Amino acid sequence: MIPEKAPKEDVLTAAEHLKKESHVPSFERFKELYEKSVESPEEFWVDIAKEFFWKTKHTGQFLDYNFDVTKGEIFVKCMEGATTNICYNVLDRNVHEKKLGDKVAFYWEGNEPGDEKTVTYRELLQEVCKFANVLKLQGVKKGDRVSIYMPMVVELVVAMLACARIGAVHSIVFAGFSAESLCERIIDSQCSLLVTADGFYRGDKLINLKVIADEALEKCRDKSFPVERCIMLKHLSKEEQEASSPGSLSPPAKRSCPDLQQEKRKENVRRVRPIPKVPWNPEVDVCWHSLMEGASDECEPVWCESEDPLFILYTSGSTGKPKGVLHTVSGYMLYTATTFKLVFDYHPDDVYWCTADIGWITGHSYITYGPLANGATSVLFEGLPTYPDVSRMWEIVDKYHVSKFYTAPTAIRLLMKYGSEPVHKYKRSSLKILGTVGEPINPEAWQWYYNVVGDGRCPVVDTFWQTETGGHVLTPLPAATPLKPGSATFPFFGVVPAILNESGEELEGPNEGYLVFKQPWPGVMRTVFGNHQRFETTYFKKFPGFYVTGDGCRRDKDGYYWITGRIDDMLNVSGHLLSTAEVESALVEHEAVAEAAVVGTPHPVKGESLYCFVTLTDGIDYTTTLEAELRKQGKIMRRLLRKIASNQQDLGDVSTLADSTVIEQLFENRCCTA
Ligand code: WT7
Repeated sequence: MIPEKAPKEDVLTAAEHLKKESHVPSFERFKELYEKSVESPEEFWVDIAKEFFWKTKHTGQFLDYNFDVTKGEIFVKCMEGATTNICYNVLDRNVHEKKLGDKVAFYWEGNEPGDEKTVTYRELLQEVCKFANVLKLQGVKKGDRVSIYMPMVVELVVAMLACARIGAVHSIVFAGFSAESLCERIIDSQCSLLVTADGFYRGDKLINLKVIADEALEKCRDKSFPVERCIMLKHLSKEEQEASSPGSLSPPAKRSCPDLQQEKRKENVRRVRPIPKVPWNPEVDVCWHSLMEGASDECEPVWCESEDPLFILYTSGSTGKPKGVLHTVSGYMLYTATTFKLVFDYHPDDVYWCTADIGWITGHSYITYGPLANGATSVLFEGLPTYPDVSRMWEIVDKYHVSKFYTAPTAIRLLMKYGSEPVHKYKRSSLKILGTVGEPINPEAWQWYYNVVGDGRCPVVDTFWQTETGGHVLTPLPAATPLKPGSATFPFFGVVPAILNESGEELEGPNEGYLVFKQPWPGVMRTVFGNHQRFETTYFKKFPGFYVTGDGCRRDKDGYYWITGRIDDMLNVSGHLLSTAEVESALVEHEAVAEAAVVGTPHPVKGESLYCFVTLTDGIDYTTTLEAELRKQGKIMRRLLRKIASNQQDLGDVSTLADSTVIEQLFENRCCTA
């Protein structure tokens, strides 16, 4: 499966200068460890587990599972019998055992240059304990779900770790989502409490988060799901809050969060921003700061079973309804910690920066849990790569001496458009490893990232994974794997990929087909929250015995894996998955649209963009014909529509089409709607 020897042709050799201090310093070492991880997973992972704190040890098998729907229910269990607490492991263990209390956990960099804050491991632990006590006082108990809808601020990490500390399940909803999406997720996960903020700026744009949150709660009430509590952090108006709470002795009054307009930010912040009026419902709303004033900074962690739920995170589903991907405590902890350490070749003096939002899985695994489990120092960035100008990323890299940098191909392609000059304005000499995630990276963008951003000296780790996989599953290791631009290279430890054809036969050697995994690794999802059947149908039904990723993949002559993109009805726009069904149902809601079919078409920056075919109710004949003809097939042939959208004339086999002239008509009428 992993070739005997690393190839020497068509590759960039693994970084020589990183080998000396690397955890996995050669291809041979990688191969040796990989084989151990697959043949004796127990031995491999139990060594790693020794680094962590367990209140009680595991009793059963390290990993127990069934991946075959024909043999019964699908399940994965890791370290059954063990009890632990992930918050304790990522904070208390670092502060008390590893003596990292004074080490910086996060350099927070705000949207506005100059708006910044530093938080040490000790401070983070104190804040988390306080907020955990706040949650307890609000009635949150082990197993309860808490929705978090917040911008990229330290308090978002505090809120998620506070949930983990008391065994509550966080469900973070990306702060760019609408009231409708938030409402849908709150109801699906049956959350009793919402944590949000007044608002935030993304570049020049003000997002009135509390207004959207209120709208979502209103929708929840309309659907007979009243949420009892909403805790609001004052982020935009925080100076007002600081000024009015002189020290922890001030009374933990039932002070509301008063509105403040045109409040000035700190002197060193360049721009003065208007601060929105915050709607306040005293029946439901409580102020983060007043609750925290009265809270104790000591809070005993709640010891959880290995398979207790840790969080729910929603991802698009091909039926249009988002799926609540559920991850559990122990396996996720081991997996994110290990992938972080090895893929970014983590060392204690690193400054690591992942530009993702915590609202996505990348942020969960590689801003919060993975880095903190290793005692790493990270940058937590609230802003945009293009604000106030397109040098912002490199300015931040130099400011904090970032050594490991992790971003998405869409960001690279966006910045590439502006050429190398904005990059060259900054030295970037601290950089050692560059990472990408979210979508296939085209070789041009890879080369630009490698040569311009990394000055040709930083290996690029192209990490393939999914919300469902919890952490990296195909990825190079920077000092071990010779790189091929555009390939996510080889599986991570414990991961066994296979490529199947349409009939489910495993293809050996160089071949292309469905990417599946043959056995679980500790970080794989355990279920779809509240719908185990959907979990089985989505990932295990098509090819019994395998976890189906939904991605197409090619293996080349050297055994390298190349992701070719989604082969289900999902689109990847700027690294974010959308289901075609979701977009289609939105289109047909419009009264003029009778039918809609959505496909992706390549886009120079976003990777893919939506290409929508619509049939109008009282429309032109040929579209009606098309609809009728294609319906005869039982489903719309997206494969063809995809090629039409990207203007590829070689359609392959169209013999199953009732009337192939519709294709010509479509090409003639092809226009850009993206
Ligand atoms: C889908 C998962 C994992 C965090 C971000 C997205 C695509 C992800 C790569 C990569 C090619 C990639 C796949 C995958 N994808 N990383 N390195 N190369 N494709 O998480 O929203 O769950 O999306 O993103 O299509 O299935 P997600």
